[in-house]
Amino acid sequence: MKAVVYQGPREVTVTEVADPVIQFPSDAIVRVTTTNICGSDLHMYEGRTSVEQGKILGHENMGIVEAVGDAVSRIKVGDRVSVPFNIACGTCRNCLTGWTSFCLRTNPAEGMDGAAYGYANMGPYEGGQAELLRVPYADFNLLELPPGGEHENDFTMLSDIFPTGWHGTELAGLQPGDRVAVFGAGPVGLMAAHSAMIRGASQVFVVDKERDRLDLAGKIGATPVDFSAGDPVEQIMDVTSGRGTDCGVEAVGYQAHDPSGQEHPELVLDNLVKVVRSTGGIGVVGVYMPQDPGAATEQAQQGRIAFDYGTFFSKGQRMGTGQCPVMRYNRHLRDLIITGRAQPSFLVSHELPLTEAAEGYQHFDSRDAGWTKVLLRPAA
Ligand SMILES: NC(=O)c1ccc[n+]([C@@H]2O[C@H](COP(=O)([O-])OP(=O)(O)OC[C@H]3O[C@@H](n4cnc5c(N)ncnc54)[C@H](O)[C@@H]3O)[C@@H](O)[C@H]2O)c1
Ligand SMILES: [Zn+2]
Ligand SMILES: [Zn+2]
Repeated sequence: MKAVVYQGPREVTVTEVADPVIQFPSDAIVRVTTTNICGSDLHMYEGRTSVEQGKILGHENMGIVEAVGDAVSRIKVGDRVSVPFNIACGTCRNCLTGWTSFCLRTNPAEGMDGAAYGYANMGPYEGGQAELLRVPYADFNLLELPPGGEHENDFTMLSDIFPTGWHGTELAGLQPGDRVAVFGAGPVGLMAAHSAMIRGASQVFVVDKERDRLDLAGKIGATPVDFSAGDPVEQIMDVTSGRGTDCGVEAVGYQAHDPSGQEHPELVLDNLVKVVRSTGGIGVVGVYMPQDPGAATEQAQQGRIAFDYGTFFSKGQRMGTGQCPVMRYNRHLRDLIITGRAQPSFLVSHELPLTEAAEGYQHFDSRDAGWTKVLLRPAA
């Protein structure tokens, strides 16, 4: 089959590789219909992880079940399914309490709980930017979708970014009527803003500097804040009579930068501590790494990020972090899509055949105007 293979920093190729096969009786093989490029893939693409050459990338996958192992009974060949990016066993302590993103069994790496497809440090699993994908514990992991081709571009957001954006608002403790500040207007930030609107926020600020992304935020009813035009905290304080927001979502991650492009991994955390009112919650879904050899300072290379913890403590704020447990939300979000209450496809900018993946990566990585979210179609 054809697959998108990591070759080294800023180099992916579409290469002929062996088809995946059923390795365990609880596996399924999915023929991928849509697979997305994610901002998380860019950490690997930019050489900011230890991902090995030859890895098939892709953790945002959906498709049609092609084969199932002998122990699979709920999922059938021919089912249309969304594949959560987390690979979870379903029976460990964390899975049983709904934290499938910290499954204790699926990642063999010492000290790492939680596994994913095609990702650095997340276990030996290949990704789905390919024609076929092996899914472990298929009965537990796969989410059934209505048959046919309807809502394909909405359902494809269920494997990661729609649940992740929703999780950001959940970790932030968002309540109806709240004002919320979302930092980052990439796909995850825009999904957090969409989720906040659905959950009844009274005002949703979205902070970024990319004009096209801020325009999309405005289109769904959020208030765009351009951090290249001035301090985003001051801008939000000015229009909230100095009160700030009730909660906030971090959808940027450790490569947060100032308007000149200089990285400051603590910048967005500091801004959130300032802009969120005392006792408010902060949901951090942007990724921070325990090791980042590409960081500017020795501290940050060890994952030590000196944010304004003193003010955070004084304000009695709360913070939630980590990878999203997709299964906690994906059924509900699927049903919001089916009834028309949610339409996460609004951010799709490009639909490319798999063979054009390298161009997709390059433009999305450069944040070229209009390249908000790239979908790959292996069958095209
Ligand atoms: N927790 C999870 O489960 C999970 C899942 C998916 C993605 N992620 C992470 O979420 C983050 C965002 O993903 P994405 O796909 O939207 O990526 P992205 O890189 O497309 O978007 C990040 C956005 O942040 C903006 N930004 C940079 N510095 C900023 C600042 N100082 N203030 C405000 N905005 C700033 C950038 O301009 C960009 O538009 C990444 O770190 C990704 O790895 C986490
Ligand atoms: Zn993703
Ligand atoms: Zn588990």
